[in-house]
Amino acid sequence: MTFRIAPSILSADFARLGEEISQVMAAGADIVHFDVMDNHYVPNLTIGPLVCSAIRPYTQAPIDVHLMVKPVDRIIPDFAKAGANIISFHPEASEHVDRTLQLIRDQGCKAGLVFNPATPLNYLDHVMDKVDLILIMSVNPGFGGQSFIPSALDKLREARQRITASGRDIWLEVDGGVKVDNIRAVAEAGADTFVAGSAIFNTKDYKATIDAMRAELAR
Ligand code: DX5
Ligand code: ZN
Repeated sequence: MTFRIAPSILSADFARLGEEISQVMAAGADIVHFDVMDNHYVPNLTIGPLVCSAIRPYTQAPIDVHLMVKPVDRIIPDFAKAGANIISFHPEASEHVDRTLQLIRDQGCKAGLVFNPATPLNYLDHVMDKVDLILIMSVNPGFGGQSFIPSALDKLREARQRITASGRDIWLEVDGGVKVDNIRAVAEAGADTFVAGSAIFNTKDYKATIDAMRAELAR
């Protein structure tokens, strides 16, 4: 299993964002998790395509855009032009889930579906062939620094079964409350890609934290 660590820059210092990204990638992270909130679908407001373009030169690693916006479709081409590699959205926020997945893929990006704690995985039923990534939320979306909701572990196990049954190489990402002390249990439930915001950026030594996460995963 290839494990990927995806720091959420929501917890980075926005006044020094480029430098923060350079540092966290040099510390051994694999992808950049980029949280987009619109103060409509979720009660918070963050960053958009202009910031995605601005950080693009700071890393060669994939930029994983997590859209917490409604409507979804009209902002997708802007993120693709801004250098996003993966674009994920919440199915409840799209009128036409299949169309949105296709739109993301037509822009040359990997397409992801995101599941809130209370959203059933049934949204995958007829679109599994268009999904490149499944993102299981282990907090309600909107803020960094919340506690991991344990029912996400069962959701991860079910998502992993669906991926295995599909025979496709679909990434299984988890987002919210992931820390050194629970990353192992989250991996055992089936996740291969771990978003961590506060657990990394609220520590002084990013490399020590990412190394500790990898040591847990290798245990
Ligand atoms: C929450 C965001 C997360 C958030 C995770 O809505 O999607 O990516 O930054 O933060 P932590 O890791 O601190 O829970
Ligand atoms: Zn996120």
